[in-house]
Amino acid sequence: MMPNGRLAVITGAGRGLGRSLVDEFSEAGWAVVALTRSPTASTDRANVTVATHDVRNEPSTALMSAVDGRPVDLIINNAAQGAPHAWLGEIAAEGVMNAVDVNVAGPLRLVQALLPQLLAAPDPVIINITSRLGSLTAQARGDYSDLSTSYAYKISKSAQNMLTISLAQDLAGRVRCWAVHPGKMATGMGQADASKDPRQAARELRELVDSPDRTSPRFVSLGAADLSW
Ligand SMILES: NC(=O)c1ccc[n+]([C@@H]2O[C@H](COP(=O)([O-])OP(=O)(O)OC[C@H]3O[C@@H](n4cnc5c(N)ncnc54)[C@H](OP(=O)(O)O)[C@@H]3O)[C@@H](O)[C@H]2O)c1
Repeated sequence: MMPNGRLAVITGAGRGLGRSLVDEFSEAGWAVVALTRSPTASTDRANVTVATHDVRNEPSTALMSAVDGRPVDLIINNAAQGAPHAWLGEIAAEGVMNAVDVNVAGPLRLVQALLPQLLAAPDPVIINITSRLGSLTAQARGDYSDLSTSYAYKISKSAQNMLTISLAQDLAGRVRCWAVHPGKMATGMGQADASKDPRQAARELRELVDSPDRTSPRFVSLGAADLSW
């Protein structure tokens, strides 16, 4: 593996898609700052720096030291919180607020903290890992009405999509901003019939980052046609 001089910062890196993303990008020669909610064992990869970051908090000095003032070529906001599906009369508003905190405010906090480093990179990209379930167009059509998805997840992922659009418009011409649905993966957050290997999603996402596409904002579905907002 030859270092390629680029740096990626990835949240929710301890398991699931986040862990596969750390493996994929570091094996491709990227330097990676892997952010996990709780302290985990250190990595044996020289190009991976692990730091603790609960995305509900402001980025810590440990996170900023891990980045160490380097230009940031890529932020992948991957960490997410769902909630169990519940009947309308039993939905806890607190659960909705918590999902918005993690899935929307979390990415915003990280982008704000790393904006100077992003703008110092030659061609930076922000990727917010979203879900097809955050598509207002598809949900309004009833495309996923057979799925038991919580209000918390649907509301927070559609709000996260609006964050991606807002960032793209604010940073037009400077930072490309993409919402990426990874596919139905067999991970902690996957539905019962989900079978996609998160390593495949990580490979597809790296290929996407290496593509020259300039569209921003963009709502990508890995391995499929782009989605409607
Ligand atoms: N699985 C699917 O089929 C599917 C489909 C569409 C979209 N997605 C999206 O894919 C992304 C990755 O999810 P996954 O499938 O890999 O699920 P996962 O295995 O459940 O991983 C979720 C990750 O988010 C982290 N996390 C949760 N709350 C956090 C917080 N407050 N601060 C920091 N990290 C936090 C978890 O950390 P801990 O280990 O500390 O809990 C874990 O690393 C999510 O954005 C999800 O919405 C998944």
